Amino acid sequence: MGFYERVVLPRVVDRVIGTRAVAEERHLALAEVSGRVLELGFGSGLNLPHYPSSVSQLFAIDPTDTGAKMAKDRIAAAPFPVEFAPLRGEELPFGEGEFDGVVATFTLCTIPGVEQALSEARRVLRPSGRLYFLEHGRSDDPAVHRLQVRLRSVWAFIGGGCQLDRDVPGLVEGAGFRLGPVERYESEGPRFAAPRFRGWAEK
Ligand SMILES: C[S@@+](CC[C@H](N)C(=O)[O-])C[C@H]1O[C@@H](n2cnc3c(N)ncnc32)[C@H](O)[C@@H]1O
Repeated sequence: MGFYERVVLPRVVDRVIGTRAVAEERHLALAEVSGRVLELGFGSGLNLPHYPSSVSQLFAIDPTDTGAKMAKDRIAAAPFPVEFAPLRGEELPFGEGEFDGVVATFTLCTIPGVEQALSEARRVLRPSGRLYFLEHGRSDDPAVHRLQVRLRSVWAFIGGGCQLDRDVPGLVEGAGFRLGPVERYESEGPRFAAPRFRGWAEK
């Protein structure tokens, strides 16, 4: 991982998706999370203030620890223990069924082996455990989707591998999850990055 991904990008991401509007989306996405939780792609810990009191413990993983260092104060302020490990979602060193919930926000777009990571997330969830997600992805509007395809490479270059047009609910279902309610809506900002998927899926 180069200097840009390790040092610059975590700070840029912290600004871009650390806004008040996105905080409201996080709050809604995490309202029902409970128990022992694994967060994939922890970044700078922007979800921490939005976890409800039903969360008892959080394991947070991310390939780079820059964000976790930035999250030092947020981690200290969390009302539950937070353990961070520099890991990739594709290879989770946890046993089957260890978690009540897995959380991914703005991360399924970036994980290179997203199918493998979702399969790992399903493996480490207990029976009926839930994957909670808040992600951007593929537009239903053909004109916007065409733009997403045109911007794919340049966006991935700027965004550390972020893919603009992943079919998030399709990927989640494809990994064997049963989809619960998924809200599809448009966030503020450029239309190519606006389509959102917020919901949960059950093992
Ligand atoms: C756009 S940031 C989102 C950070 C955070 N989830 C949030 O909502 O603020 C994407 C995150 O995915 C992480 N990431 C990249 N590859 C990953 C992988 N293979 N497994 C897990 N996380 C990964 C990046 O390091 C980055 O922190």
